[in-house]
Amino acid sequence: MNDTDRSTTSISPSLHFRSARPGDGAALWQLVDATGALELNSAYFYLLFAADFGDTCLVAERDGRIVGTVVGYHPPRRPDTAFVWQIGVLPELRGQGLGLKLLQEWAALPANRGCKWVTATVADDNAASQALFRRFARDCGADCEVSPLFTPELFPRPHPAEPLYRIGPLDGSAH
Ligand SMILES: CC(C)(COP(=O)(O)OP(=O)(O)OC[C@H]1O[C@@H](n2cnc3c(N)ncnc32)[C@H](O)[C@@H]1OP(=O)(O)O)[C@@H](O)C(=O)NCCC(=O)NCCS
Repeated sequence: MNDTDRSTTSISPSLHFRSARPGDGAALWQLVDATGALELNSAYFYLLFAADFGDTCLVAERDGRIVGTVVGYHPPRRPDTAFVWQIGVLPELRGQGLGLKLLQEWAALPANRGCKWVTATVADDNAASQALFRRFARDCGADCEVSPLFTPELFPRPHPAEPLYRIGPLDGSAH
């Protein structure tokens, strides 16, 4: 496992970033729950993700507590792409640049830094997430293309559309 420890600078010197470890599953579940805004999946799902996809997941820790995360993976048919499945910051730490820093640190993980594209689906009603991905693209000097992916009728219950945000091409040095 590539367990990359990185010290942060601008947000708070007490924060640090690293890839997820197999034992982080329960803490990821708790963080996603605490965001109050993300769709909470089963605990088993986060245990599995931390165990098998930890190299493409990032956590931000403060005093040993996870305060932000990016849960991601490489779509098997698109190995040049890093997909953000969930990104979340504790409510009390929002609006200070941590979401952007998380994305930048996540894209710079050894497992991700060779990828040409960053993708995510962003719900039509999630203004913060839309702004975050557009800002990330701008800072990378990359385009942010938005196209339909998961339209409301694909969901088993009422759900806003989740269009695909595709950011790139990235040259491996801009992020
Ligand atoms: C989305 C989220 C991760 C952003 O984290 P954050 O630390 O608040 O974001 P940042 O402070 O780094 O801001 C990044 C950009 O988003 C913008 N932004 C942040 N919150 C915003 C809001 N509520 N409405 C509109 N724009 C917002 C910022 O202004 C900034 O853009 P700018 O630099 O162009 O001005 C955070 O709001 C969150 O955890 N939300 C709940 C979970 C979620 O919805 N995740 C995304 C779906 S997977």
